[in-house]
Amino acid sequence: MKKVYDCEIIKHKEIAPCIFMMEVLSEEIVCSALAGQFVSIYLNKGEMLLPRPISICDIDKDKGTLKLIYGVVGKGTAELAAFKTGEVLKVLGPVGNGFKIEDTIKKHIVIGGGIGTPPLIELVKQLKGKVEVFLGFAKDSILEERFKELGATVYVATEDGSMGIKGNVIDLLEQINPDGDMIYSCGPKGMLRAVDLWGREKGIKTQVSLEERMACGIGACVGCTCKTKKKNEEDWQNRRVCKDGPVFWGEEVVW
Ligand SMILES: Cc1cc2nc3c(=O)[nH]c(=O)nc-3n(C[C@H](O)[C@H](O)[C@H](O)COP(=O)(O)OP(=O)(O)OC[C@H]3O[C@@H](n4cnc5c(N)ncnc54)[C@H](O)[C@@H]3O)c2cc1C
Ligand code: FES
Repeated sequence: MKKVYDCEIIKHKEIAPCIFMMEVLSEEIVCSALAGQFVSIYLNKGEMLLPRPISICDIDKDKGTLKLIYGVVGKGTAELAAFKTGEVLKVLGPVGNGFKIEDTIKKHIVIGGGIGTPPLIELVKQLKGKVEVFLGFAKDSILEERFKELGATVYVATEDGSMGIKGNVIDLLEQINPDGDMIYSCGPKGMLRAVDLWGREKGIKTQVSLEERMACGIGACVGCTCKTKKKNEEDWQNRRVCKDGPVFWGEEVVW
């Protein structure tokens, strides 16, 4: 049974235009959190009774804190951005499954798009072996330096060419042509679909972290479903992104 915890905000700052980093204290969530899981934050105001899902970016077991990075896109995230250090948030978590990390795999390809990049930080912290990170943004990049600090080789693409190569993350993959045993990816659905296709062409198993609009966030309302194959594209079932995901094998998703 998932619980809602009172979490004190330890740090909260804008790290890029309309992108915020929030660090919250929660030993209860931290002790069982996995890379790729998320938390649901309650704002409890008027039309914003439904919690907002935000991925866990960085877990500090010693300090008992979690870092979250989010973009302000609507009323809920604007409300969240107004919270101050020292205030307390109601947070449900950790929610969902995480990325599957296998110790036998030594060459990892990690692919992030835009605000889908944050959960890949905790993943990269836990991967052992060679890690190559491919990031795609509209313009400003985030978290590139943090991936480098973690020992990963990082490649960046921006749509306007202001950083890295001009293009998207698939252009980057075509150009670098990395060799790996597992792909882990998070970002917009169109990107994930293209990554899954690229992985299949190369014969590399691919994990994708999906995003759907959520309501309850705990598997009860079936408001966040995606289609996954039972046997093939025609024989599919609905699965809940909040409870059965957000991470799925690319090959099981009906895109
Ligand atoms: C598992 C999961 C993990 C997430 N992790 C992060 C994260 O780490 N950082 C981050 O910035 N955002 C993340 N999101 C997206 C985040 O939950 C939404 O941006 C947020 O709920 C929007 O709330 P709002 O009230 O500000 O916007 P709203 O007013 O509800 O919507 C504003 C706009 O955002 C779109 N939107 C809202 N919710 C979603 C969603 N779930 N998926 C796609 N588009 C959405 C709406 O269609 C609309 O165009 C995640 C979503 C999921 C499902
Ligand atoms: S949001 Fe209710 S089942 Fe996923």
